[in-house]
Amino acid sequence: MILQNQKHLFNLTEDVTYLNIAALSPSFQTIEEAGIKAVKKKSQPHQIPISDFFEPVVELKKLFAKLIDVDDHNRIANIPSVSYGLSTVANNIKLNQGDEILVVEGQFPSNYYVWESLAKQYNAKVKVVQAPVTKHDQGLLWNQAILAAITDRTAVIAISNIHWSNGTIFNLKDISKKAKLHQALLIIDGSQSIGALPFSTNEIQPDAVICAGYKWLFGPYGCGYAYFGAYFDNGIPIEENWSNRLGSENFAGLTNYESEYKPLANRYSVGEHGSFIYVQMQIAALKQILAWTPKAIQNYCQHITQDAVISLKALGCEIEDASHRAHHLFGIKLPESINLDALKKTLKDQSIFVSYRGQFVRVSCHLYNTKEDFTKLINAITTMIETD
Ligand SMILES: Cc1ncc(COP(=O)(O)O)c(C=O)c1O
Repeated sequence: MILQNQKHLFNLTEDVTYLNIAALSPSFQTIEEAGIKAVKKKSQPHQIPISDFFEPVVELKKLFAKLIDVDDHNRIANIPSVSYGLSTVANNIKLNQGDEILVVEGQFPSNYYVWESLAKQYNAKVKVVQAPVTKHDQGLLWNQAILAAITDRTAVIAISNIHWSNGTIFNLKDISKKAKLHQALLIIDGSQSIGALPFSTNEIQPDAVICAGYKWLFGPYGCGYAYFGAYFDNGIPIEENWSNRLGSENFAGLTNYESEYKPLANRYSVGEHGSFIYVQMQIAALKQILAWTPKAIQNYCQHITQDAVISLKALGCEIEDASHRAHHLFGIKLPESINLDALKKTLKDQSIFVSYRGQFVRVSCHLYNTKEDFTKLINAITTMIETD
């Protein structure tokens, strides 16, 4: 059964066609309320108990652990950004000269620069698996090329589960199997799919999963999540903050300096991650996502986009085949005849919001969108062709 449209839970106005959650999600009402309540609490700081520094964070970690199918919430850390999480990962990896770090073409910069820098440090190499240049089966061939690129020289594979600009799905299960065969670490950036596409850490067995919180997880900008597997159990965090040490709940004893961290990934959480406002908003967001379920969100997105994709292709647009891409985010390569600047202006004038990433018009949708939103986009593109 397809979920009902959920626009009534959001404050998006009727005149706006928002096809851009991949850039920034809108809050729904319970998130907004949780945030406002927390903002107001700050005006009465004496009503914020010491337990508020810790207990909501544990609740939040449990929710995220459930979302990505992790058994122990102590494997989750709270991070402010993907770049922070990936720096933590990279700082705990030692390479040999000539080792390879595998990435894919056009990867998000926070998941590229860090590897370029690590490779430089060890005289290793970033190997970029290019997207095959073809109009058909690009996703299939790209996945094959990624698997073929994993060899004994591969030390790290840093990849997302979908490509952030065109929605190509990377087959993480097969990539993980081959990574293990060659003792390569698998580091996943889940920012553009976790929350909207089912993801199981237990099934994929990655070494780390890093995820921005402000897109498909509906959190405020500046909050994110990280899962760290056993490889990182005894690693070094990029900062030393008091709350990550054992027994930090005892404020009177904080200067009995403690050498032990809290268990597993807790050492990697950012300072002040107990952020009273953000954490309450994040909890409200994750509860709702778990109630909807990523599977149902994905099915809904497929339901509202499948006809639109057929129409767009009929107009001459190129879109990855449905079997190799996500339904909540995909890239549209426009026919060459379309003047992109003119289209940008038309969409802006009609309050249709999308992203422009590389050679793609990236559209992304959620439960507040409808088939009609895509009809508006198609009509706008059609006028561009007609006026050409
Ligand atoms: C795939 C992907 N990773 C990460 C990010 C965000 O990175 P950061 O948290 O370092 O700003 C984005 C933002 O668009 C993204 O698309």
